[in-house]
Amino acid sequence: MPASFDIQSSAGPYRVDIRSGLFDEVLQRKDAVILCDHRFAERVAERGIPHVAVEAVETAKSLDAMTDTIVALRELGATRQSHLMVVGGGIVQDIGAFAAAVYMRGLPWSYVPTTLLGMADSCIGGKSSINVGKYKNLVGTIVPPQAVLIDPNFIEGLPPLQRAAGLCEAAKICFVRGPEAFDDYLADKPAVGMNVAAHEKTIHKSLLAKKWFVEIDEFDRKERLLLNFGHTFGHALEGATNFGISHGIAVGLGIMCAIDLGRRLGRDYSSLPRVALLDRHLQDLVANANDLGDVLEKITPSDACRYFVADKKHGSAHFSAIVISEQGAVERIALPKDKNTLALCEQAFKTVIDKYAA
Ligand SMILES: NC(=O)c1ccc[n+]([C@@H]2O[C@H](COP(=O)([O-])OP(=O)(O)OC[C@H]3O[C@@H](n4cnc5c(N)ncnc54)[C@H](O)[C@@H]3O)[C@@H](O)[C@H]2O)c1
Repeated sequence: MPASFDIQSSAGPYRVDIRSGLFDEVLQRKDAVILCDHRFAERVAERGIPHVAVEAVETAKSLDAMTDTIVALRELGATRQSHLMVVGGGIVQDIGAFAAAVYMRGLPWSYVPTTLLGMADSCIGGKSSINVGKYKNLVGTIVPPQAVLIDPNFIEGLPPLQRAAGLCEAAKICFVRGPEAFDDYLADKPAVGMNVAAHEKTIHKSLLAKKWFVEIDEFDRKERLLLNFGHTFGHALEGATNFGISHGIAVGLGIMCAIDLGRRLGRDYSSLPRVALLDRHLQDLVANANDLGDVLEKITPSDACRYFVADKKHGSAHFSAIVISEQGAVERIALPKDKNTLALCEQAFKTVIDKYAA
């Protein structure tokens, strides 16, 4: 079912449309410069639209690689009056949103997400995150798009792994939003094999849950930070495996680590059935990552812990972790920077790595 709603931002409201066929409409626009995932370059080129194509790999969203993208925009003739349409998954969004924020001190941009993760999560909130050296998402911007155009037709072509990665992020958002949102999300029995209409419903629910966070805390100071649930552990697993794990799957694994850490910190979740439901649901989704065992077999918990320590979200005097409270809410806690904390985190990584390593 087509849907439409606004997101309020410091730059004014922007519209999110969910409707099949929107990408074809974008391809008829004459005013746009397109930055797209290379897999859509042919479709864009056929319409004679000026475009830059990038490969959706983590190394392409690095500060070094941004030089080529920005030079390509310049050579294409993009000016401050151009409208940058970004077409792709979360990686291409990060590249495009960053370029739009800095190119000639800023261009208007809009986003057509093509992965489930892009549709159900990253498309709203205006964030860009760029890798620097070995540090994931170290620099970035928060500049809202002018429009988000979600064309569910893209879902047809997505492999189960990509669908699972998107659902991991959707499950996270709804769980963090609270019991009502999570129950509502689970009520549709979200699974990779759902048809496009069912995915569309889940995308809508996930975005309405995320809308609350990005409107109340656009610049990521308090409430929105909770959406990083699973991310410190997840980014560490991505880094330690040299990005051998897709981001959404890494977040799913990261949430399992966070649940394990919560228990090790003495929290009793036995009277919270939603924690077990979340864990079970994430396990079902992660099971779609066929090569996960081989990838995780190559790393140790202490490899992952080294990346955990280097995460940008920690304070100078403490580690920052997001765990589930005994009442079932997701909360940020500060942990002492000492051997005991590191041992607990290493054990949490070990629990998850051992579960999946081949
Ligand atoms: N800016 C944000 O708010 C935000 C939020 C969450 C995640 N992220 C970032 O997003 C990235 C992950 O993004 P992602 O999981 O969307 O995937 P992606 O952009 O990495 O794409 C994954 C793969 O799917 C392919 N693909 C894209 N669209 C397709 C389609 N319609 N059919 C078939 N294949 C398609 C891509 O070419 C690529 O091979 C991470 O780098 C993460 O840090 C950003």
